Amino acid sequence: MIPVFPIIAFLLNGIGGMDNNILRLNIPPEPNLDPNTVCKTYPALTVKQYELCSAYPDVTASAIQGIQIAVHECQYQMRAHRWNCSTLEKKNKNPYLSPLLERGYRESAFAYAIAAAGVTHQVSKACSLGKLKSCGCDMSMQGQIHDKFEWGGCSHNVEFGEDFAHKFMDAKENAGDIHAKINLHNNKVGRLAVMKNVMRQCKCHGMSGSCEIKTCWKATPDFRVVGDVLKRKYHKATEVNFLNTADNRSRRRLVRKQKNSMLLYYEKSPNFCDPNPEVDSPGTTGRFCNKTSDVVDNCETLCCGRGYNTLRVKRTERCHCKFHWCCYVVCQTCTYNEWVTVCK
Ligand SMILES: *[C@@H]1O[C@H](CO)[C@@H](O)[C@H](O)[C@H]1NC(C)=O
Ligand SMILES: *[C@@H]1O[C@H](CO)[C@@H](O)[C@H](O)[C@H]1NC(C)=O
Ligand SMILES: *[C@@H]1O[C@H](CO)[C@@H](O)[C@H](O)[C@H]1NC(C)=O
Repeated sequence: MIPVFPIIAFLLNGIGGMDNNILRLNIPPEPNLDPNTVCKTYPALTVKQYELCSAYPDVTASAIQGIQIAVHECQYQMRAHRWNCSTLEKKNKNPYLSPLLERGYRESAFAYAIAAAGVTHQVSKACSLGKLKSCGCDMSMQGQIHDKFEWGGCSHNVEFGEDFAHKFMDAKENAGDIHAKINLHNNKVGRLAVMKNVMRQCKCHGMSGSCEIKTCWKATPDFRVVGDVLKRKYHKATEVNFLNTADNRSRRRLVRKQKNSMLLYYEKSPNFCDPNPEVDSPGTTGRFCNKTSDVVDNCETLCCGRGYNTLRVKRTERCHCKFHWCCYVVCQTCTYNEWVTVCK
């Protein structure tokens, strides 16, 4: 069997409490990433995406891993909301197959952006780990000297990551209509959220840590930082009114908003209270709510007025996940014994 994708499928399935050793036994240290193992097994690539994948299977594998990281982060960021991103994580499923990503909701905009950010992030990092044939560290600033430091070391290759995310994700949007334009815009917002938050990391040299000489390199931010940035953009997302986009004023407004790197949506969200496969809503029955919270996870809001049960439970969840090259994730299981309130 193919070494990579059963593991991705496994990851998509949500692994709790896997023993690291058991996983290691299953994972060859350097998986064979070729078009057959990568492109043929990932569902629903468009023709253009398939071509890219065939030319760059190793980069694509890392892009796909980036999408999974993004789906995990999406679940963290949305944990208190009625739509909590859990439906984007399904066995061997490309999240773009979710009906929600066919729509123009605020949630869809967030999902597009965070996935594009995940790919940018992961490909940039994989380049600098020396894992990919087509890219390495960004050496463009190597040797430049500033007052307090010198550029050196291995800078994360965000230009390459951004460029690949741009090509790979945007290759899905071939409709050329306003829906596609908005998806492209939200993809860009996601990529920029990584680019704009690249940090400088430094190492000191000199007598006993005196830091007389400092070498610095560019590093992508922790993905949580990117998730937080995009979550704020989710709250501030702007509705594009289609009916008016033909008139010049709202066109201009749209252009201005694009410059502002705001997330855009064009459809009012459903309430996500009840199960509805058409929008990939699992409903909120069984969700943990908070009686005293004054935000979206309070029981009244989350349970949509249906009420809640109070139970004593041993709750387990996936925690401390670590993503490994290539293409799997190891999580621990955290268990809590507690009183919980659960939506009816
Ligand atoms: C997200 O929602 C699903 C479906 O309602 C639920 O099974 C899951 O536990 C929720 N995740 C979190 C982190 O609350
Ligand atoms: C809208 O802009 C176009 C040029 O971009 C112009 O030809 C047209 O007259 C404008 N329409 C209105 C109603 O101002
Ligand atoms: C519930 O919400 C309150 C108020 O925001 C917070 O202090 C508390 O930690 C929350 N409880 C849980 C179990 O998350």
